[in-house]
Amino acid sequence: MPNETVPQADVPVAVVLAELDRVAHQPFESARPIPASANHSEAFFAHERRTVFMQEWICIGRADEFPVAGSYMTHEIADVSILVVRQEGGGLRAFVNACAHRFAHLVASENGTAKKFTCPYHAWTYACDGQLVRAPYMEMKDGFDVSQHKLRSLHLEVWEGFVYVTLAQEPKRTVHERLDKLRTDVVGRFDMACYKTVMRETMVWDANWKNLIENFTESYHVPIAHGKTFAQHNKPLETYVCGDENDWFGYHRAAQPSDTGSGAAHPNNNRLEGEWRRMMVDYCAFPNHLVTLMPDYLWWISVQPKGIGQMTATWGVAVPPEVLADIPEVEFNDWVADFRKYMDVANDEDKALVEALWRGTKSPILPVGTLHPIERNLWQFTRYLSRMCNAAD
Ligand code: FES
Ligand SMILES: [Fe+2]
Repeated sequence: MPNETVPQADVPVAVVLAELDRVAHQPFESARPIPASANHSEAFFAHERRTVFMQEWICIGRADEFPVAGSYMTHEIADVSILVVRQEGGGLRAFVNACAHRFAHLVASENGTAKKFTCPYHAWTYACDGQLVRAPYMEMKDGFDVSQHKLRSLHLEVWEGFVYVTLAQEPKRTVHERLDKLRTDVVGRFDMACYKTVMRETMVWDANWKNLIENFTESYHVPIAHGKTFAQHNKPLETYVCGDENDWFGYHRAAQPSDTGSGAAHPNNNRLEGEWRRMMVDYCAFPNHLVTLMPDYLWWISVQPKGIGQMTATWGVAVPPEVLADIPEVEFNDWVADFRKYMDVANDEDKALVEALWRGTKSPILPVGTLHPIERNLWQFTRYLSRMCNAAD
């Protein structure tokens, strides 16, 4: 039982871990929501950064967002700025976005195309593979050799078209090892890698990052909250199926009644069969990668803590080639603008709720709480979080 006289922000790490462990070990039938202290304790926030964000694979976008050699993007993971660059040979590489001289922030822009990267400080210049190629006036230093200096590289993997980077120097498992069961059991039939990116945005909301994970991993709120958007797919809550427990992901799915229109496969989609032609899959690749996958588009979000009560949610939409082929080139920009408006409405519908979760859970005095049967993914996420955070030394 939490001590109801201690403000949530002051709850010590050991108490949060014990609470998490207790919730994680309850059977789902009697499971409770994620402990409020896990979203408010300042000490736990630092612990979570170290045990989750400094260790785990974090999605930074889609591989097709790097169309040519030199295409690059910067992104933040746990306050570490990273630089991802398409290589001459075609692969992608990730680096810490800090110069190898005195560690100045190297690339300031969010994305672009470059043949080389020059530090704004003393003009050390790097090739796309991170190798130092020029260091002005360093011939004044005896024995200095540019070939001995390079950017610090990070592990990167592409899975089903998504790009994941980890700050861990020796990741315990590959993304493929973690997510391949999700591919073989559920999402592989969609061939997400062929979906093409049509938009990418970033939002900042006033809530803990886990409040958005909580919200996205349950569709119980959809008929109530998303009247102007997702509720129009008319999927009865009774038809939702939650996937079995897995250490690295959670998902639920439901088929909409309509074989045509939004949410259904295009007639030229020959990848999906039967009810999968109108199936929606919502999954979370733990810790923070959320995907709504449909036959005619996918929507992904990568959530990052910006502070204990603020998050950055980078999101994008990608659509399969047969859908794109149907949009006349002159209408494409209008089509994207309309889609963006639709997603903006859906995000606004969620924002108020996610921020309400943060505000409500600030109180140290709360009722017991419980979970609906289709909130099973929340319990799975809590178990994952408990495992990650409790396993740390
Ligand atoms: S810090 Fe980058 S060149 Fe000096
Ligand atoms: Fe929602």
